[in-house]
Amino acid sequence: MFHQIPESMRKRMQMLEDIDTIDRSDGTPRLQRLRQIPPVTGQFIALLAATTPDGEMVEIGTSAGYSSMWIIQACKLLGRKLKTCEIMPEKIALAKETFCVAEVEEYVQLLEGDAREYLNDLKDISFCFLDAEKEVYADCYEIVIPKLVPGGLLVADNAINHREILQPMLDRALADERVDAMIVPIAKGELVCRKI
Ligand SMILES: C[S@@+](CC[C@H](N)C(=O)[O-])C[C@H]1O[C@@H](n2cnc3c(N)ncnc32)[C@H](O)[C@@H]1O
Repeated sequence: MFHQIPESMRKRMQMLEDIDTIDRSDGTPRLQRLRQIPPVTGQFIALLAATTPDGEMVEIGTSAGYSSMWIIQACKLLGRKLKTCEIMPEKIALAKETFCVAEVEEYVQLLEGDAREYLNDLKDISFCFLDAEKEVYADCYEIVIPKLVPGGLLVADNAINHREILQPMLDRALADERVDAMIVPIAKGELVCRKI
């Protein structure tokens, strides 16, 4: 996967990394900050996604499509298509631009609006990356876990840097007998749940 990232994809990923670095470094408040994962988390979720059994590949919280492009690398390998959900019109426009210039449109479907509405219609989820507002994590967890195929993975970002607000949901996941779960101390902290 990582040795075969096409130039169009690599260039867009680099551009989004540069924007995100500026977002985080100059202290100027911006409404449209990308708030995307760092590259190490992208590699981690791509590797995990590539190990999953047959089923739907889902992302909750697209922003400009940076994390999507990591998951798409696994989709290309497995012959699957990512469904990614984004609620903000400005981010939807950016993500569309990303998928077009990166030439990955055949591997991704952008679902516009509140992810919870789309999740209800999905079944047989093999991989889900959850990276939206922290207030929707618990709802998304409860919708996604019953829909995961055995061996399927739910990965939730910010399990360490937003631990306080996510604590009830994290406690629920770690004690949930439907999954094996742990928090991986990489970057902002990834909750990884594998369906039993
Ligand atoms: C942290 S950013 C996602 C970053 C992205 N995963 C990346 O790493 O490139 C969270 C995104 O989730 C979106 N979002 C928040 N609540 C949502 C919801 N209920 N449904 C869909 N998207 C949502 C926000 O608009 C924002 O763009």
